[in-house]
Amino acid sequence: MTQNASNGSLAQRKLIVGVTGSIAAFKAATLVRLLMQAGADVQTIMTHDAARFVTPLTFGTLSARKPLTDLFSDDGDWTKHVSLGLWADLMIIAPATAQTIAKLAHGFCDNMLTATALAARCEVLVCPAMDHDMSLHAAVEDNLRRLRAYGYHILPSRWGDLASGLVGRGRLQEPEDILEKVRSLLRPQMLKGKNVLVTAGPTREPIDPVRVVTNHSTGAMGFALAEALRDRGARVTLVCGPTPLDTPGDITRIDVTTADDMYEACLDHGEADCVFMAAAVADYAPAAPANSKLKKTSDELTITLRRTPDTLAELGRQKQQGQLLVGFAMETHDGIDSARGKLRAKNLDWIVLNNVLEDGAGFGFGTNRVTVLGRDGSVTPLDPMPKRKVADAILDRIYTPGKLSSSRR
Ligand code: CTP
Repeated sequence: MTQNASNGSLAQRKLIVGVTGSIAAFKAATLVRLLMQAGADVQTIMTHDAARFVTPLTFGTLSARKPLTDLFSDDGDWTKHVSLGLWADLMIIAPATAQTIAKLAHGFCDNMLTATALAARCEVLVCPAMDHDMSLHAAVEDNLRRLRAYGYHILPSRWGDLASGLVGRGRLQEPEDILEKVRSLLRPQMLKGKNVLVTAGPTREPIDPVRVVTNHSTGAMGFALAEALRDRGARVTLVCGPTPLDTPGDITRIDVTTADDMYEACLDHGEADCVFMAAAVADYAPAAPANSKLKKTSDELTITLRRTPDTLAELGRQKQQGQLLVGFAMETHDGIDSARGKLRAKNLDWIVLNNVLEDGAGFGFGTNRVTVLGRDGSVTPLDPMPKRKVADAILDRIYTPGKLSSSRR
């Protein structure tokens, strides 16, 4: 097996998996299995309470290394937490109970797991798991904020069925999702120091105070791109139209409503090193929105629409030397030709074509199927994949060494 750090490969990466006393500890067994299958070298550390839920024998068998539970071992080695902290490329704490989170937030190091986390020079990923009300408690939220400020990465718990019988917040993320996060954290930070502007979601153009012209965009593709860019080290500003999606961590969000708002917000950030314009901006808006609700007085209603400003075209006109502009084209027919035309007309470096009528593509799906077209004439169709994977594949294509090309026309 060969190491391939550029795509977040785990082959030969040295990982610590810290397991604490939660029923979700059983999921950590699957996580260790997935990490091992991906070629990682895994050392597990368990708290004594974790060992009440899943036996050390389970983790020892899955990782082919004896789990560590005691700070002071029989062989007299009491500095193992330090050597382990130096050894690891990444430490993952999954599940992380409220108790362990509190200890980490306040620098406690009273067991092998917390001592190793405190000594570790590598990045630490904390995956909380607890019951609904505990996870919403201000003390827990404060502690997580503190951990973020210390530079820990947090993969927030999710909503769902809990062991207590409640349905709510606090479920450990699924092992596959933790694995994805691990991959993204181990990806080289190729975009460190870069300011990136991403747009996402629809715009809403008022007809009157209660009605709007809009489209079916959920914003999911733009949010996935924003996360993928952040995970490669970029400082991301996300300008988004109305969407219920939660703001991903470490991303600056600017909410807008109309295409005019989108234009203003984006031009305010026109100096960004890279722009990914994934928003589905309305091309037309009612020319004279009514101030009060329109009443149904006739059988037909004609609304005059005006063209909205084209944000991306304007960014293309003002394009800075070295700036990278990426557009998105949503088409139903003549996709490649039409996308190529937009790439040229808007002075773009890349355009991501999405045929809404294809299987696994379009609005509201968890997956997407896109083709990436470059200014150099290249056409790269990507397989249908979950949107986060599509985002990573787009970035892999755009930032392939030697292929990064941006210029003034
Ligand atoms: N775009 C924009 N401002 C607009 C319309 C589109 O910035 N008012 C951006 C989109 O975010 C996308 C790209 O331009 O990145 C292409 O958008 P698309 O709607 O596919 O193309 P249009 O140029 O609007 O052409 P048409 O709708 O006629 O296909």
